[in-house]
Amino acid sequence: MQDTSFAIHPGSKKSIEGVPYHDIGNLNSFTKVDNIFSFVCEQGFVNLQFYKEEIVRVVMNPFASPTMESSFALVIEPEVVEVDVRETIETIELHTSKLSIKVFRTPFRIAIYDHNERILVQETIRGMGYNDKKEVICYKEMKKEDHFYGFGEKTSFLDKRGEKMTMWNSDVFAPHNPEIDALYQSIPFFMTLNKGFAHGIFFDNTFKSVFDMKTENDVYSFSAEGGELDYYVMLGPTPKNVLEQYTTLTGRMDIPPKWALGYHQSRYSYETEAEVRELVNHFLEKEIPVDAIYLDIHYMDGYRVFTFDRERFPNPEQLLKDLKKAGIHVIPIVDPGVKEDPEYSIYQEGIYGDKFCQYIDGQIYHGDVWPGKSAFPDFTNSDVRKWWGEKHKFYTDMGIEGIWNDMNEPAVFNETKTMDTKVMHNQDGSLKTHREMHNLYGFYMGEATYSGMKNLLNGKRPFLLTRAGYAGVQRYAAVWTGDNRSFWEHLQMAIPMCMNLGISGVALTGPDVGGFAHDTTGELLARWTQFGTFTPYFRNHSVLESIRQEPWSFGEEIEAVVKKYIQLRYKWMPHLYTLFHEASKTGVPVMRPLFMEYPNDHHTFNLSDQFLIGDNVIVAPMTKPDTFHRVVYLPEGNWINYWTGEVSEGNKHILVEAKLDILPIFIKEGSFVSNGSIKQSTKQLEEDLQIHLYPSNSGTASYVLYEDDGNTFSYEQGQYLEKHINCEFHGNRLEFTIENKGTYKPDWKQWSLIIHGSVEEKEVLLNGEEISPLLIQNEGEMVRFKLDI
Ligand code: GLC
Repeated sequence: MQDTSFAIHPGSKKSIEGVPYHDIGNLNSFTKVDNIFSFVCEQGFVNLQFYKEEIVRVVMNPFASPTMESSFALVIEPEVVEVDVRETIETIELHTSKLSIKVFRTPFRIAIYDHNERILVQETIRGMGYNDKKEVICYKEMKKEDHFYGFGEKTSFLDKRGEKMTMWNSDVFAPHNPEIDALYQSIPFFMTLNKGFAHGIFFDNTFKSVFDMKTENDVYSFSAEGGELDYYVMLGPTPKNVLEQYTTLTGRMDIPPKWALGYHQSRYSYETEAEVRELVNHFLEKEIPVDAIYLDIHYMDGYRVFTFDRERFPNPEQLLKDLKKAGIHVIPIVDPGVKEDPEYSIYQEGIYGDKFCQYIDGQIYHGDVWPGKSAFPDFTNSDVRKWWGEKHKFYTDMGIEGIWNDMNEPAVFNETKTMDTKVMHNQDGSLKTHREMHNLYGFYMGEATYSGMKNLLNGKRPFLLTRAGYAGVQRYAAVWTGDNRSFWEHLQMAIPMCMNLGISGVALTGPDVGGFAHDTTGELLARWTQFGTFTPYFRNHSVLESIRQEPWSFGEEIEAVVKKYIQLRYKWMPHLYTLFHEASKTGVPVMRPLFMEYPNDHHTFNLSDQFLIGDNVIVAPMTKPDTFHRVVYLPEGNWINYWTGEVSEGNKHILVEAKLDILPIFIKEGSFVSNGSIKQSTKQLEEDLQIHLYPSNSGTASYVLYEDDGNTFSYEQGQYLEKHINCEFHGNRLEFTIENKGTYKPDWKQWSLIIHGSVEEKEVLLNGEEISPLLIQNEGEMVRFKLDI
């Protein structure tokens, strides 16, 4: 009935009175034990603990001393931080070299400052407390200039000021629209940008939580249905610093295997072995690059995970071998629901080994998913995770290196869309309800799968794609944004959604290119593929019975455009790979909102229809039908149109023409990008490594190209190559210094340094020596030097 006008029946109006709120009251006493500062207040207990000089944790429990337990998101222990404590009649002040906290005694309130007394976080007259439903909540001042980003996977625009968002992992087939405030991921983290300064807050509470940046003009709040009010404040002060700090707390991804960054093709479902072979032949014949094909639920025997339907797929082992030869990976879907079938070994092991989630009285929870009545592994338990991980031998024995976890909110086909919240989890001896663990279910499943695959792959990097997750999900999986639709609006929505996922620590993310549900059109597929070329994760996927959307589905013109952009992805692979390496080291995402590099430029604060790749490449996708022009905002500096070489001054909005085969791309003057050759898949050797410089008149530019074998963890033992390039611009004289670090020997023995713009009269020096004799090619507005590795 909620889908009809009945939803607005006058009799359904809810009471406007809120639930009574209990303020924490005045401070009664204060102690310091080890590195924890404990405050006993009239109606609650608060602990403050510094994790680093620039990160402080605040924990409030209304009824007892805080447990100081952390969720599975946390990967570090607090460091020993020197804190200077100053007490006055009204306050207690705690100072590290970077942060200061002022605790007011009457009533108990907290304000957090940087060492220049700039306020990051200030509680309002309501401070923190709880209500009669035992929900914990805190209220902070919202300043006029505050802009909010992050919050994981949310619809709507980039800046979340004016939004109220719920964290409760939800399988939302439809609709994904601005009103939907809970999707598959719950990442209770956000970044505030205020007058060019950024700080972060991570609310580590796994219950259903709500962030309200909407209800009041000058106050925001966050609250949770249960547990403690447990949050970390990160100093920043730049947006990138916040990301580094947040991913210090919750972890970073390993460098993904290179093949995971290629073009991926999926469909619900490629239903038979013959269909998969035909699909692959099309890619090979048409010379359209592809690195992975997905097997959706039809590959299984009655949707039983860890099986193949031998009628549809008579010889998956051979199929896998043949595809591997062609340089193509196969990624099967693995859902958490295990079919109730006493003759099915996984179900048997689960029942006899006590692996499934159960009610408190021992009754196993069953819910309906694709296989029908199913049981759900209790992934919060490390023995269960180990068991599940080991089961993946079924796949790795066939040569599979990537897994797709879906339906892991967990999705259940019932009114609530998920598991009964009264079901219990046995988190290694500690009993917790599903109400508390729901948001962690997919995250724990990710750990089970990723670690299991990593153990089985003998040094090769696994790839995992997940739909559900919690803060820290980036440690194990890439995230795709679930069941979008083939609407232009969903292409538009995916841009800020992916940027905010990046700000939430998830660097490897992307939507279903072309749109999942509904029928795409040739033009939409072409424009969406252009966008996908530069989303961190690039997969075309569509639903059962929708119109086909493989690259060749809409005739030659569209096929040519789609092919051009899939090829462009491979051309840009060295640069993308370099940026993924950076993300794995710092947590700073590959796909960035412009404010991340230009935090003082107000034009960037809610710029939702263009983004940066790294710090110097602006991508401005075309997101409307029959539209061949768009406005692009260029921040300070000069920007070079990638296609025409035309230079535009920044600090300006410009009108750009973009015929169907053009995706507007701009590169900042005085910066580098690296490119490679077009390939059928990333498995082919790189033979034409190019580093492009878009020179400036003065100043310097630097670049560190990163390269390794793209496939194993040997980079952890120094098997990588970092090519550090520096260039000083002195008018017509360009002075380069180049230095290699690391022991990896790449495929290429020579590489090209390509200098853009008119270069005739330029003098080029490399490590102090002129290199003009090495000039071998002059391509109009660029010149190429071939250099030894
Ligand atoms: C869910 C997934 C979708 C998948 C389908 C069938 O809807 O989000 O990607 O194709 O299930 O497995």
